[in-house]
Order: sequence, then structure tokens, then C-alpha cells
Amino acid sequence: MSDDPIMTMQGVTLGFGPKIIQSDIDLSVRRGSIFAVMGGSGCGKSTLLKSMIGLLRPKSGSFHVGMQDYWAGSDAQRTEINHRFGVLFQSGALWSSMTVGENVALPLQMFTRLDARAIRRLVELKLALVDLQDAIDLTPAEISGGMRKRAGLARALALDPDILFFDEPSAGLDPITSARLDDLILNLRDGLGATIVIVSHELPSLFTIADDGIFLDALTKRPIAHGSPRHLRDNSTDPQVHAFMNRQRNEEGSAS
Ligand SMILES: Nc1ncnc2c1ncn2[C@@H]1O[C@H](COP(=O)(O)OP(=O)(O)O)[C@@H](O)[C@H]1O
Ligand SMILES: [Mg+2]
Repeated sequence: MSDDPIMTMQGVTLGFGPKIIQSDIDLSVRRGSIFAVMGGSGCGKSTLLKSMIGLLRPKSGSFHVGMQDYWAGSDAQRTEINHRFGVLFQSGALWSSMTVGENVALPLQMFTRLDARAIRRLVELKLALVDLQDAIDLTPAEISGGMRKRAGLARALALDPDILFFDEPSAGLDPITSARLDDLILNLRDGLGATIVIVSHELPSLFTIADDGIFLDALTKRPIAHGSPRHLRDNSTDPQVHAFMNRQRNEEGSAS
């Protein structure tokens, strides 16, 4: 991980029409780090992710990817930046009528000029990264939820993204499958040098993997804390942040 930011926001306000969702967002995602977006349900985590991948233009403030002012550039420049992003949606969002291999091949067919053989090679490689090489000819209906998630990840990796975005990747997965996904995410950071932005409610997972983060408050519609989930758990003096970050612990404590 370097101090060199790959993505920064300064004074960003996000909203839909007249409705403000979050304002005064300042953040900096360091290259090669895992950055967590935290906060209660409905506070605007997915909205922030949406703006980070260029699907929602901030009402005000600045948004830079590397040195480039994202919204100051042309459509063509934005498209080029977007190709450096890999996105894993909550459902995995695979095409059900295509095999796993065809799903992973799709971005390569759309955005590269590689021939069919080269694409097949790359698809095999990406599937091997997520340990799904044997599922290449299966359809999404023939594999488990955890495998679908990993297939979605292989597809997100197809174009060798610099930054990967995950919105609640472990939602609906059992603890073992979700721990496996954590290992995979750590491998992407440590093995491939990827930068990862993740929305997750799974505190144990965030404590294990995230280097940094931001905590959004639904009530004041502003970020109320910055730092790694572990740092916030142990040091935050804000009662809401403290309660949120120590939730699992307290639950475990009361259960025993
Ligand atoms: N396309 C949209 N148009 C209007 N309001 C939206 C839209 N998408 C999300 N919202 C609203 O923005 C708020 C934050 O939503 P979201 O970012 O999905 O929260 P989170 O991911 O933290 O649960 C919610 O009140 C939601 O209803
Ligand atoms: Mg969400």
C-alpha cells in the first residue's frame, strides 16, 4: 500500500433531484489499500459507491481518479477511466442464459480486440484466480451462491481493473463461504496490488481486511468518522460510531 491516492473526493455532496443523501464527503483511497464504506442501512453507502464508479455525478465538490478530475474530462476520457474499474454487484448479476465462462468472456469481447482463443485463455486464468476453473461450462443455475459470487468477481477482474468495488459481497453467504471471499479479497490486494472499495455490514470481515474507511451518518447526512474499522472500533469517541463498531462484540457478549 502506498500513500499515493488513487481516488479522492473533496467536499462532495450527493443526491437525487432535490433530495440530498450525503454532503461534505472528503475521502482519499490509497493505491493498493482496502477502503471500507460503513454506516447504518439507508445512509447512502451504495449511493457513494455509485458516484465512485461514475454512475452519479456529485451535486458539488471534486472527484479525482488519480490526477484526473473525473467530471471535467470528456465522455471518452471517463469511459477510459471506467475501464480501470471492476464492479461486483450484490447479486453477482450473471447472465443466466450463458455459462460461467461466457459471462466472464463478455467484457473481453466487448472491450478488447482479442481473438476467441486468447479470450478463452484469459477466462480460464480469471476463473482459476477465484478457484472456479471447473465451472467454466456450467450455467449460474448449476452452481452455488458462493460460486456465483466468485464468478461475478472473475468477470469483474476480466479487464485487469486497478480498483474493485464490492457492495455487500457477503450478503446471503454462510460464514465459511464469506471468510473464503475475504481471503480472496486479501489476495487481490496483496497478490495483484488491486485497490478495493467495499461496502459491508460484516464487522469481523471489515476488521480483518480493511485498511481505511469512512463512516456515513443517515441523520446528519454527513460522514462522521474516518479511519480503519479497527481503529474506529477501538478509538472512536462518537457514541454512534462506537456502538456500531462494537455491535457484534456486545451481541456476542450478551449471548454468552
Ligand atoms: N435512484 C434513487 N433515487 C432517489 N433516491 C434514491 C435512489 N437511490 C437511493 N436513494 C435513496 O438514497 C438513500 C440512501 O440509499 P443507499 O445509498 O442505497 O443506502 P445504503 O446503501 O447505505 O443502504 C435512501 O434513502 C434511498 O431511498
Ligand atoms: Mg446499499
